[in-house]
Amino acid sequence: MKVSVWKGGAEGAFHEFEVPRLPSQTVLDVVTYIQRALDPTLAYRYACRVGMCGSCAMTVNGVPRWTCRTHVDKVAHAERLQIGPLKNLPVIRDLVTDMREFFDKWARAKGQFEGRRTRDRDFEGIKPSSPQRLQVDAAIECIGCAVCYSACDVVAWNPDYLGPAALNRAWTLVKDERDGARLERLRAVAGDAGCHSCHTHMSCTERCPKHLSPTASIAGLKREVLKSSIRGEL
Ligand code: SF4
Ligand code: SF4
Ligand code: FES
Repeated sequence: MKVSVWKGGAEGAFHEFEVPRLPSQTVLDVVTYIQRALDPTLAYRYACRVGMCGSCAMTVNGVPRWTCRTHVDKVAHAERLQIGPLKNLPVIRDLVTDMREFFDKWARAKGQFEGRRTRDRDFEGIKPSSPQRLQVDAAIECIGCAVCYSACDVVAWNPDYLGPAALNRAWTLVKDERDGARLERLRAVAGDAGCHSCHTHMSCTERCPKHLSPTASIAGLKREVLKSSIRGEL
């Protein structure tokens, strides 16, 4: 199989490699083969190899994907693969992007849990049947892979836009009964760079490897912001 892999920083170029085809081969297997057998200087990132850590995302034949769970059979066109770094993030080197801005945006969206209990009190539980909890049961499974962020056109047009993952995170906390920073969080996501900038293209939802729907989370935030604005809370 012929594989083109991005080498260098933002001004780099695709380099061609020949890689043997194997049964059940993943895209991450291909990158690992190239790094171990053909080009030891190739920089890429992964950790778990089982779809848990979110560190292996790359652009494969133009589409952002988690590479450890993406089989070559499903994505190779005419036995060719093109593998590059994620879009919408600065490239550090080769397939490694700088994730700082992505996670800084989680902080800007107030993505940190603000507990109301002191350390002397026991943990607060949430029943699995809680209606609030049921609204975010899927959304809390986000692995922070940035596939959605890379797929989002609004992030490409407006670099300040918080993006689908940070807003999805904010939504899980807005619906967390234990959290004490609901209004601060709604204020943080209500600005020009927040939930109202989402054009509901659904690219994030189509691409999320965990089958989450950041689009639905963002729609939930829009509703909560509207309700709180009408009540005069914001
Ligand atoms: S639905 Fe919103 S956040 Fe998701 S890709 Fe589209 S514009 Fe971006
Ligand atoms: S919402 Fe999905 S695509 Fe986006 S960071 Fe989380 S797991 Fe990855
Ligand atoms: S290596 Fe952890 S999700 Fe792919």
